[in-house]
Amino acid sequence: MKIMVVGGGGREHAIIKKIKENKSVEVIYALPGNGGMANDAVCVDIGAKDIEKIVAFAVETGIDYAVVAPDDPLVLGCVDALEEKGIPCFGPRANAAIIEGSKVFSKNLMKKYGIPTAAYEVFDDMQAALDYLETAPIPTVIKADGLALGKGVIIANTLDEAKAAVISMMQDKAFGASGDHIVIEEFLTGPEVSVLSFTDGEVVVPMISSMDHKRAGDNDTGLNTGGMGTVAPNPYYTDDIARECMEKIFKPTIDAMNKEGRTFKGCLYFGLMLTPNGPKVIEYNCRFGDPETQVVLPLLESDLLTVMQATTNGTLAETEVKFKNAHACCVIMASEGYPVSYEKGFEMTIPEKIADSVYVAGANLKDGKLLTNGGRVLGVTAVADSLEGAIEASYKKVGEISFGNAYYRHDIGQKALAAYKS
Ligand code: AMP
Ligand code: GLY
Repeated sequence: MKIMVVGGGGREHAIIKKIKENKSVEVIYALPGNGGMANDAVCVDIGAKDIEKIVAFAVETGIDYAVVAPDDPLVLGCVDALEEKGIPCFGPRANAAIIEGSKVFSKNLMKKYGIPTAAYEVFDDMQAALDYLETAPIPTVIKADGLALGKGVIIANTLDEAKAAVISMMQDKAFGASGDHIVIEEFLTGPEVSVLSFTDGEVVVPMISSMDHKRAGDNDTGLNTGGMGTVAPNPYYTDDIARECMEKIFKPTIDAMNKEGRTFKGCLYFGLMLTPNGPKVIEYNCRFGDPETQVVLPLLESDLLTVMQATTNGTLAETEVKFKNAHACCVIMASEGYPVSYEKGFEMTIPEKIADSVYVAGANLKDGKLLTNGGRVLGVTAVADSLEGAIEASYKKVGEISFGNAYYRHDIGQKALAAYKS
């Protein structure tokens, strides 16, 4: 089979490595991929948002199955366009990807169907938003409506910060048109859990839970990033909580999307907060998380391609989705200065013996040399029987990789470890 994966980061590299385990796969094309994946996929210089070129490439090449991994092409209708040409895809159509593409949509969906989430108000008028803040409880959370590279969420600890956030989104357009509509919502507290799930629109099968580390600095200090590391499973996500989430959140969301005529197929990601009043949805993503994928897929025992195809064909109920009874830890190695500004173009070396568990996010190949080319450069995953073992092994591998300006957090997994011990 000829497989095409749209996207070019560490998440896509993890997906590609896992798909490769299927013996019927002859070749995997990554659009655009990156130089660090060259041993696992054929990188094709077509951007993930260039839907027309993606479709033309897929048709010319005779792609048998396509995986659309990032949010942008999903929201732009990449799956719809490929399906129109008869190419089966993993991922939701645009009318379902809106569950991530519009926070106003997802909040209204949850309200309509009684799915637990933070209380909220939607505003499209700046003055009304500012007036509302005068009586809103502080801290408060301000969210731009559309995709904003994960940066459109501001937690305001004072009234002044809250007003400044509203003005920057609605007047200064800090996130472009995403700020035309904003959500102001209740500040929730509790451990966060990421649960990715496979769904064919009828059945929803949660994957092993995970914990992201979003802040740039050790002990959750510094700016929010795309994610500096992950562990799976998440110790806070007990069997009881999993049952509660299935009953009150996962199934109701799938049913709600069907009732709205927006059947969701692919990977639906539930960003949850385990509040004192029970689990609540912080956000939905219409795709695999990054870097959650880099710990979840290495623990998947079943064949990924088979499971993906089952989501497309509506046969998930009859398909085995099994995870190893083990722990995984992924440490992201970034460029010093990420997420603000950083130098790139440094040569990196990844020893052959650990390459299997290194997922490259930002690199180019130039004259046979691999050079850093991004904020997040790569993720290093280890799997072990214990969380302690996984943490130790992933940091040991990190120590074997070097490149100029390398930066990583030293405490990935420590919060989870403390939770197991308490
Ligand atoms: P999001 O992009 O919606 O995932 O938000 C980014 C991060 O902001 C989340 O991972 C949470 O840590 C935090 N956050 C979002 N919404 C809330 C909320 N209502 N209460 C507290 N923290 C939140
Ligand atoms: N790691 C969070 C995300 O992929 O949005």
